[in-house]
Amino acid sequence: MRSIFLKRSVTQLVTMVAVGGAAVGAGCSQGGTGAGSGTSGAGGTASAGGTSGAGGTASSGMMAACRRDAGTETDPTVAAGEAAILEGQQTFRYDTFGDEAFWGDTLKLHEAIEGSAHGGVGAGVSPKTALSVGLKVDSQALPASVVAGVKAGTVDLNDPATTLALLKLNAVVGVTGTMNTDGSLKTIGIQCAFCHSTVDDSFAPGIGKRLDGWPNRDLNVGAIVGLSADLTPVATFLGVDEATVRAVLAGWGPGRYDAEVFLDGKGFRPDGKTGATLIPAAFGLAGINLHTYTGWGSVPYWNAFVAILEMHGQGNFTDSRLDNAVQFPVAAKNKSGHMRVANDLVSSKLPGLQAYQLSILAPPAPAGSFDAAAAKRGDGLFNGAAKCSGCHTDPLMTESGWNMHTPTEMGIDDFQASRSPDGQYRTTPLRGLWSHQKGGFYHDGQFATLMDVMNHYDTTFGLGLTTAQKQDVIEYLKSL
Ligand code: HEC
Ligand code: HEC
Repeated sequence: MRSIFLKRSVTQLVTMVAVGGAAVGAGCSQGGTGAGSGTSGAGGTASAGGTSGAGGTASSGMMAACRRDAGTETDPTVAAGEAAILEGQQTFRYDTFGDEAFWGDTLKLHEAIEGSAHGGVGAGVSPKTALSVGLKVDSQALPASVVAGVKAGTVDLNDPATTLALLKLNAVVGVTGTMNTDGSLKTIGIQCAFCHSTVDDSFAPGIGKRLDGWPNRDLNVGAIVGLSADLTPVATFLGVDEATVRAVLAGWGPGRYDAEVFLDGKGFRPDGKTGATLIPAAFGLAGINLHTYTGWGSVPYWNAFVAILEMHGQGNFTDSRLDNAVQFPVAAKNKSGHMRVANDLVSSKLPGLQAYQLSILAPPAPAGSFDAAAAKRGDGLFNGAAKCSGCHTDPLMTESGWNMHTPTEMGIDDFQASRSPDGQYRTTPLRGLWSHQKGGFYHDGQFATLMDVMNHYDTTFGLGLTTAQKQDVIEYLKSL
């Protein structure tokens, strides 16, 4: 570890200053351009407060401090930034961009969820089933009566009617149900939080406070979409039969999703494994140029892409790279790179969504979750003999600038890289890695453990590390 600034972002640092109440002027007036001077003053005194305050209230604490510092009512730029972050948080958690037209009207997933007893089809989805496919419940959206009922065992978690009640409370993370007056479901839509948030399990497994940006590695998107009684619209879009669509979805498994299958129709790799990637972290992204495993573009590029082409929200989207019918036959046929709608529900939300995304800090590793002495040795190796920092460069833990590498350079296959415009892999930023180890490492989880990752680098780059050295680097990785 070097200075505290390198371990924590400017935002977190300024929060520390605000929460600790010390050196407000230094942290705010110089925070944007020269945070170094604020670092020394804030580090010792305010670190405890900073850690506890790093969650939901971070932005408002920081903004309050900056307003005081400016000595004016409100610095309009700071106020606009705060408003954008808060608006983006609402969008990330609750906005469906009108994607009910797909998840409800087309897939009719709401009918499968409510079941025949409540006007839908089939057995319905009980909270127990919903939790078993990785859906999460926001405990802060539950009124005291429901909390008491769950604790006392009087709320039936095996009854789809309870799922409807949870949807009515807007308590299912990333899923919004619109209700009819008789309490049945009219339609359903999804949000970014569906894949990119989880909960802290503080109430029960799968039920707790929201953790935005944490990939939901329990979420079985394929199984959820597969609940739809009729997948012919997806089959038609892809130009295959419905059985093929169901086989592809069943192949995804927990924590995975295939964003590219809707462009190139490749459901499986040549070796027969699923083409889906792990859901990545959506925190710790500030300062990083290219996003997604294969560097499709910037945060606002990808947000528009996902909202419109994946979630099926209503919005305009342009990318002529998708006209390449050899690489992206499905996208080229469906003109996915030239989406135009009468009522764009996405574009106006991109600024706020970007501000929020870039403000979500990677969660610091819990004390005691790694061996600090080994991690310190590992830090030295990471930046030395193991040559990791050539690509995972402190403090971003990816390269500033163009952070892309060829499959050959990385010593791995090119299946996923070849499904992207540049044919390369992006250096994954590593902060908060400890929080998403489920499902494995690299875009497709091809390395089950961090030791597998270390062995891969040792072989590919001929590092000649001892087992003890590899273990030290692993402890460092767990501390990030
Ligand atoms: C159905 C699951 C799902 C939903 C919903 C979803 N994403 Fe993602 N997201 C993914 C997957 C999978 C990837 C990796 C894609 C790739 O690399 O090809 C990804 C990648 C990203 C990245 C890149 C992260 C990085 O490391 O660079 C960002 C940012 C992101 N998503 C933001 C969003 C936002 C904002 C929304 C809502 C508009 C959203 N996502 C909705 C699954 C999802
Ligand atoms: C030549 C550039 C380069 C070097 C050197 C490098 N990495 Fe990476 N690293 C990458 C890229 C690119 C990826 C993404 C690979 C993928 O997803 O398929 C990655 C992914 C990872 C991941 C997986 C992250 C995740 O969320 O799945 C870990 C862990 C990692 N690197 C650790 C290291 C360590 C430790 C070293 C030194 C021994 C190292 N890297 C050296 C470029 C590099």
